[in-house]
Amino acid sequence: MLKTIDLRSDTVTKPSQLMREAMMNAEVGDDVYGEDPTVNLLEERAAKIVDKEAALFVPTGSMGNQLAIMTHCERGVEAICDSLAHVYHYEMAAAAMFSGVQLHPVDNLHNDLGLGNLKDHFRDPQSFFPRTRLICLENTLNRDGGTVMRPEQMAAVYRLAQEYGLSVHLDGARIFNAALYLQCDVTDLTAYADSVMFCLSKGLGAPVGSILAGPKDFIAQARRNRKAMGGGMRQAGILAAAGLVALNNTALLIHDHEKARHLAAELSTVPGLKIDLGKVQTNMVMVETENMTAQEFVEKLSAQGVLVGTAGKFTVRFVTHLDVSMEDIQNAVEIIKEVVAYKNA
Ligand SMILES: Cc1ncc(COP(=O)(O)O)c(C=O)c1O
Repeated sequence: MLKTIDLRSDTVTKPSQLMREAMMNAEVGDDVYGEDPTVNLLEERAAKIVDKEAALFVPTGSMGNQLAIMTHCERGVEAICDSLAHVYHYEMAAAAMFSGVQLHPVDNLHNDLGLGNLKDHFRDPQSFFPRTRLICLENTLNRDGGTVMRPEQMAAVYRLAQEYGLSVHLDGARIFNAALYLQCDVTDLTAYADSVMFCLSKGLGAPVGSILAGPKDFIAQARRNRKAMGGGMRQAGILAAAGLVALNNTALLIHDHEKARHLAAELSTVPGLKIDLGKVQTNMVMVETENMTAQEFVEKLSAQGVLVGTAGKFTVRFVTHLDVSMEDIQNAVEIIKEVVAYKNA
């Protein structure tokens, strides 16, 4: 039988045996009363890893980002983000829905091109404009193919934000991927944000869960907001136990990067496919299709057991993760070559 090779996302990983055992044996309590020792341990450890005072275990990355927006901002203000940001494209306009916050997308905020003009996007407080309150960064930037923002770029944004009395939130869903690519400590990146969200349920392999970290009073308010959003979980230690195992997996992400680079190098030689190899920095590969739409390509691959996602009319996204081996990648390459050759013939 055809083995499915699932390259749609790093969220598709299944919990390892070690994780399942940790979940089964987790000591639990009612976390809404603050009495779950496993959640408390995860929050303590996570805060330390990103060098923040406190942390909050949340069900999803989206909730982490939205709690950050809700907690940093009052209603009727603006939050700046990159025009490719996850908070802008993929979170159901939740900032408007739940926090009354308007997102203000800025092209190339993620790189030097947009950084130079960032100040021009801060609103004039003496006018009819909404007040600028927050800047959301995303590292790695998903919709840009998992590209990184360097510490000095983040520092430049943070300095400007401080000068203008704005807060900075970091959507660090894949911040450990960024740190590995940049060969820096994760704290060299998180230092330039007031709050940071990172996901346990992506490349790190946990089945559920993300972390929001920041100053103590900020996290205390975010905890209240989490309850208001229906995110107060009870014996959540079952899930936090998997999160604690996931925190030990950060170094493994390097293999995901190797697999992505191998995939990109192989596919870049295939006529009819185009890849910007400079953007293959972490665990994603964006491929432009020349002779068919992304949807057609996805369907043809799916019929051969290779699952990938579309990221535009002619753009397909491949994501490597713990549950695909280098051998799976090589098999996927062979299948892709056949599909494209058939189409080119
Ligand atoms: C950059 C980024 N931020 C936030 C999220 C949201 O995470 P979740 O799917 O856990 O809500 C994702 C999910 O893919 C993401 O890629």
